[in-house]
Amino acid sequence: MPGVEDRVIIVTGAGGGLGREYALLLAAHGARVVVNDLGGARDGSGAGTSMADSVVEEIRAAGGRAVANYDSVATEAGAAGIVRTARDEFGAVHGLISNAGILRDKGFQNMTTAEWDAVVQVHLYGGYHVVKAVWPHLREQGYGRIVVATSTSGVYGNYGQSNYGAAKAGLVGLINTLAIEGRKYGILANAIAPMAATRMTSDIAPPELLAKLPPAQVAPVVGYLVSDECTDSGSVIVAGGGQVHRVQYFQSQGVAFDGTPTIDDIAERWKDITDMTAAQPGVNPVG
Ligand code: NAI
Repeated sequence: MPGVEDRVIIVTGAGGGLGREYALLLAAHGARVVVNDLGGARDGSGAGTSMADSVVEEIRAAGGRAVANYDSVATEAGAAGIVRTARDEFGAVHGLISNAGILRDKGFQNMTTAEWDAVVQVHLYGGYHVVKAVWPHLREQGYGRIVVATSTSGVYGNYGQSNYGAAKAGLVGLINTLAIEGRKYGILANAIAPMAATRMTSDIAPPELLAKLPPAQVAPVVGYLVSDECTDSGSVIVAGGGQVHRVQYFQSQGVAFDGTPTIDDIAERWKDITDMTAAQPGVNPVG
């Protein structure tokens, strides 16, 4: 893969699943990789060093360069520790793949605030903390590549994932603005909505479907997004099972009312307001 040679790239949650594939592929193409993983269970409980260590060993055994980090992305101190590892070991940081994640699925009616908080803390605050910690370094050097892991559950919704979907949609909101603020500093920010068979999806999708979704198929897409080759920013890419798509918000042509419409006016024109046949990509009217 062109464009990642010698780059220092942090991959959070790289001790297994998709993050491990990202780390292996980037290292195989000459990147210096920080393999971060808290090493806990799928629901975020527990911690350990063996997950990150085993991926680092795998990379080194193949002749690549990597260092392990075991901090949690969910705290400011943890994120600072991850960036410190990159700078202490490799002297720089050029890219970040914010990938760490947990699940606490539950129908909204029964979801506890603790379940909501845990998921938002790891995904949305985790993404925020790590981006916040790398941002000044990227700005200072006038170069950076950020990829956050979102999900089709954030973009489209999914039963039992109100906490996860809200956090994942929040990350799209984050990169939309980072793309705007980062451009003049050479910082690109994009989101990946992967589809892959990992421990996270092992009991969510049927085995026949999972068999068609090896996580290694997502890695080249993320590899491209953190490479010099990529010039796009603010895109949401859905990738899995050999398919790669871009998702974008579109806005209907809509209806322009003369003055303030009544509720009845809205009801009467609702079909036209929501008709997407002549829709165009949405833009922020105040941006
Ligand atoms: P995974 O469970 O195999 O990987 C997540 C990794 O994050 C684990 O190794 C875990 O130990 C680590 N982690 C959890 N909390 C952490 C924390 N606080 N600090 C540092 N590391 C932590 O799951 P998978 O599938 O590889 O997921 C990777 C990312 O992709 C996640 O953000 C997930 O939400 C997202 N995603 C995955 C999909 C899929 O089809 N597998 C679908 C949509 C999104």
